[in-house]
Amino acid sequence: MDKGGGSSNNIKADDASLETGGGQHHHLDHLLFRQVLRITLLCTVIVVSCLVLYHSAYPFQFLPSSFYKPASSARGGNLSSLGKEELKLETVLKKAAMGNKTVIITTLNEAWAAPNSIFDIFLESFRIGKQTQRLLNHLVIVALDQKAYSRCLALHPHCYSLTTDGIDFSGEAYFMTGDYLKMMWRRIDFLHSVLELGYDFVFTDADIMWFQDPFPHFYPDADFQIACDNFWGNSYDLNNRPNGGFNYVKSSNRTVDFYKFWYTSSEAYPGLHDQDVLNKIKYDPFIKNIGLQIRFLDTAYFGGFCEPSKDFNLVCTMHANCCFGLESKVHDLRVMLQDWRNFMALPADQRASQPSSWSVPQNCSISNFHPPETQKTNAEQGGNN
Ligand SMILES: *[C@@H]1O[C@H](CO)[C@@H](O)[C@H](O)[C@H]1NC(C)=O
Ligand SMILES: *[C@@H]1O[C@H](CO)[C@@H](O)[C@H](O)[C@H]1NC(C)=O
Ligand SMILES: *[C@@H]1O[C@H](CO)[C@@H](O)[C@H](O)[C@H]1NC(C)=O
Ligand SMILES: *[C@@H]1O[C@H](CO)[C@@H](O)[C@H](O)[C@H]1NC(C)=O
Repeated sequence: MDKGGGSSNNIKADDASLETGGGQHHHLDHLLFRQVLRITLLCTVIVVSCLVLYHSAYPFQFLPSSFYKPASSARGGNLSSLGKEELKLETVLKKAAMGNKTVIITTLNEAWAAPNSIFDIFLESFRIGKQTQRLLNHLVIVALDQKAYSRCLALHPHCYSLTTDGIDFSGEAYFMTGDYLKMMWRRIDFLHSVLELGYDFVFTDADIMWFQDPFPHFYPDADFQIACDNFWGNSYDLNNRPNGGFNYVKSSNRTVDFYKFWYTSSEAYPGLHDQDVLNKIKYDPFIKNIGLQIRFLDTAYFGGFCEPSKDFNLVCTMHANCCFGLESKVHDLRVMLQDWRNFMALPADQRASQPSSWSVPQNCSISNFHPPETQKTNAEQGGNN
């Protein structure tokens, strides 16, 4: 979608310039000739300056020619800024990565980054979680607007500003509008670039609380592993209901190809967001052909309001999915943090022997919300993102 929007914009710009040229061409042929000459010259200048920038940014590195073309650049057609973008991204990733080139990534907009909103709660979970504080050193915040970026800079060492020309991602009200969809797809495009740069990542929505280190619970042999709204018991079963808000992806040709396929599939399914498209393409033969290993993560470790992790000794993350509205989400996440604090305050032997339980969902409970069937998925998605 985003890509489509970007390139159609380009085509429009081209059309406009052609029309101008066309308007003149029946007057004087030599004017047209001069126009063509000027365009040719301009293209040459752009290509040359692009090459110069590209090589000064990466003098010793081989990079495929398809390397990192964010939708925003395609849209504006400003090729000379490409080198700078990729350099900026790589600088942030390098600083934040673990020794094995792994980063944790989340995205934030203004509404979620505001004081006392999701971002604060998210960071707090790492601090009160069991051995999760150190993971903050490897967390990259991708800010979708200027306010989110400023707030990130004030609180966190690894911030990246991802801009998309002409789209304002700052409000809460973007949910399931055209801009909301564009933001979701922009995210897939961005993660594709991270993989291309050779970094493994855990992508986490910021409304996911990190209570314990998830790495020991990932499958060692999978390319793409994803948390679920509902987990049916078998991690290979494609019928599990994945939630795009949390996944662990290892960089390889297979995952780079997969993200590209996922992103371009948005054109085949207009109006759907990344998660719904994933539910379509997960059965596509393309995935088998490239040999991509997909696994679904057990809600016992990676839970949410849709299907909570029952055992506090096992839970790694809890997602405020199946929740509608930012205020409800913030309210219930605070309650959830308090449940966790209470659990951690217990003596070790009681923690092991006496089962704890969540006092949420409260305001998030989807039984409080009865949308018509077609909108129901959308409401759940609102919770997911
Ligand atoms: C292209 O990007 C460069 C670097 O970001 C910027 O300095 C320049 O003004 C941009 N040009 C246009 C036409 O947007
Ligand atoms: C990367 O390092 C982290 C932290 O030591 C570890 O938990 C994770 O399993 C490593 N990833 C791989 C693919 O080895
Ligand atoms: C990945 O793809 C590139 C280009 O197609 C190829 O040169 C390289 O050998 C591949 N790497 C692996 C590990 O398959
Ligand atoms: C949560 O729900 C209670 C009871 O329905 C309501 O009084 C309260 O205003 C809600 N709080 C938020 C933050 O939505």
